[in-house]
Amino acid sequence: MPPIVSVRDLTKTYAGGFTALDGVTLDIEEGEIIALLGPNGAGKTTLISTICGITMPSGGAVEVGGHDVVRDWRKARDMIGLVPQELSLEPFSTVWNNARFSRGLFDRPRDDAYLESLLRDLSLWEKRDAKVMELSGGMKRRVLIAKALAHRPRVLFLDEPTAGVDVELRKDMWRVVERLRGEGVTIILTTHYIEEAEAIADRIGVISRGRILLVERTEELMRRLGRKELRIELAEPVDDVPETLRRDGLERVDGGQALVYTYDTHAERTGITALLADLQAAGLQLADLSTSNSSLEEIFVGLVKEDA
Ligand SMILES: Nc1ncnc2c1ncn2[C@@H]1O[C@H](COP(=O)(O)OP(=O)(O)O)[C@@H](O)[C@H]1O
Ligand SMILES: [Mg+2]
Repeated sequence: MPPIVSVRDLTKTYAGGFTALDGVTLDIEEGEIIALLGPNGAGKTTLISTICGITMPSGGAVEVGGHDVVRDWRKARDMIGLVPQELSLEPFSTVWNNARFSRGLFDRPRDDAYLESLLRDLSLWEKRDAKVMELSGGMKRRVLIAKALAHRPRVLFLDEPTAGVDVELRKDMWRVVERLRGEGVTIILTTHYIEEAEAIADRIGVISRGRILLVERTEELMRRLGRKELRIELAEPVDDVPETLRRDGLERVDGGQALVYTYDTHAERTGITALLADLQAAGLQLADLSTSNSSLEEIFVGLVKEDA
């Protein structure tokens, strides 16, 4: 199947001359949940609003469902629901009407049963007749989600959906995301929080300074992040790793002056005790031992710094 979202070499330079997207290429499969992780100013919102056809690209191309978002914007937009980072609602209109009008904007026939289920899911049903301006910030955010989902989009964008929201809303949001996943809706969300990406995304993309640094399956990324390195400086360099020492994760580095053993900190056995015993048995003298941590935070900061 062709990807439902295809981004090719996308660039965006704003009128002031600032380049917010610098050659982004990304394919997203139908039904996938992908999290875009990156610091403030990385270009996440610019990427989303360009895919949604709101921001004009400076170069490259984007297709949603095979429709070019510039040339065929109406068809592309029809498939998309967007929960923007900033509030954008009709303050004088009621919760119910905000959601209902959004369906109308997309030429969808009235479907009160669906809207009711949507508002119930988002704990908004009791507030359906309240004016948006009377609601708390968290409630307004719920209305944004209801609005975005009112026309049953196939692709949903959530731009920092949980930044500064309370625990209840976060839980409701994740429940809605799970239900949508069950319906095969493709979801693209941006976040600062790696825990959030880990909890819900099939893949995680890391974005910094307008570039995608990596896109990887969540399990794979987490597995890599949970690793630690043991560096063994040898008194005398070795030309070859002795037979009895050879094992997964062990590498000879620096012309044989050191060995590096990579292990999984979550594993039941790291294999370090056995390795050290085998080193001694092989008659190798150690000059020094050191470990380097790769906590989620450090690696993430590292990824972003690498680009600097
Ligand atoms: N309309 C605009 N005009 C000029 N610069 C902008 C505009 N929108 C965003 N930027 C700049 O582009 C960069 C990326 O912004 P944004 O896409 O909002 O990042 P993120 O969502 O990852 O925080 C920032 O440096 C921001 O100041
Ligand atoms: Mg943003």
